[in-house]
Amino acid sequence: MGEFDGKAVIITGGALGMGGDVAVEFARAGASVAIADINEVAAASTLEKMREAGTDGIFVHADVSQSAACRRVVSDTAAAFGGIDILFNNVGIQPSDSYANVEDTSEELWDRIIGINLKSRFLMSKYAIPEMRKRGGGVIINNASVQGIQSMPGVPAYAASKGGDLSLTRQMSLDYAAENIRVMAICPGTIDTEMVRNVARQELGTADEDAVAARVAQYGKDHPLGRVGTGLDIANAVMFLASEKASFMTGSYLAVDGGYLAQGAWATGAGAEA
Ligand SMILES: NC(=O)c1ccc[n+]([C@@H]2O[C@H](COP(=O)([O-])OP(=O)(O)OC[C@H]3O[C@@H](n4cnc5c(N)ncnc54)[C@H](O)[C@@H]3O)[C@@H](O)[C@H]2O)c1
Repeated sequence: MGEFDGKAVIITGGALGMGGDVAVEFARAGASVAIADINEVAAASTLEKMREAGTDGIFVHADVSQSAACRRVVSDTAAAFGGIDILFNNVGIQPSDSYANVEDTSEELWDRIIGINLKSRFLMSKYAIPEMRKRGGGVIINNASVQGIQSMPGVPAYAASKGGDLSLTRQMSLDYAAENIRVMAICPGTIDTEMVRNVARQELGTADEDAVAARVAQYGKDHPLGRVGTGLDIANAVMFLASEKASFMTGSYLAVDGGYLAQGAWATGAGAEA
């Protein structure tokens, strides 16, 4: 018996990165998972890993910043699995060439980042909640970031989207607590995914994977635990929040950050080693 046998899960951005790892771990625990993503090739590989882990899932090709696509993700998932219990609003982008202040951030880039990182949470929740209601409750977990709480120069849209994720989490938790729909967020520190590897590639000006991996490992030195996180670290946190073990939790957010947020800037010489 898996802990999530009979549960239906949607993961946005579930083809790659931490979304993909969370999908595989849910499948290992018996859940039926729908991956909503735009990357068909990566989704096929994740579906294969899910099958090997023990449970078949489905892929819904969807740009989840768009309303019609989110409706389709919800209706296809409910049709395939008989309902929806858990929504992991995971998708997010931080384009490696997007670092700029407000003046130098184009309106198009602002809209794209806010659309994917924040509006998708609103749209997916809006359409999934009626399905959760039919099941007598559900769980929504929004993937925010340590950058929802603290910031760094040059990321106005990303920082605003992540702050928005936390605010929306609190808000929805209040509106749906009486219906047994719990809403929480996670705040990852640096996690070794394509997103972070792209930042390292951009920074180094090379696609040499050994150099990129070494740079990513270096990011871990800024975290008190001395390493970057893994998709499995995120899966463990998300599955805890989605489980009955967290049944008295809603409206809260969990840092999965190796101690990053606990540390003041002064501790490392006010960012001298950034
Ligand atoms: N990696 C980190 O260090 C880190 C830290 C804190 C927070 N986060 C957050 O975690 C989440 C996952 O990040 P990741 O590092 O795994 O990213 P990633 O880039 O490795 O994977 C993102 C996935 O989202 C998909 N995607 C992109 N745009 C989409 C769209 N419009 N519609 C549907 N799917 C789309 C991609 O195809 C990919 O499968 C994001 O919300 C990110 O902001 C990441």
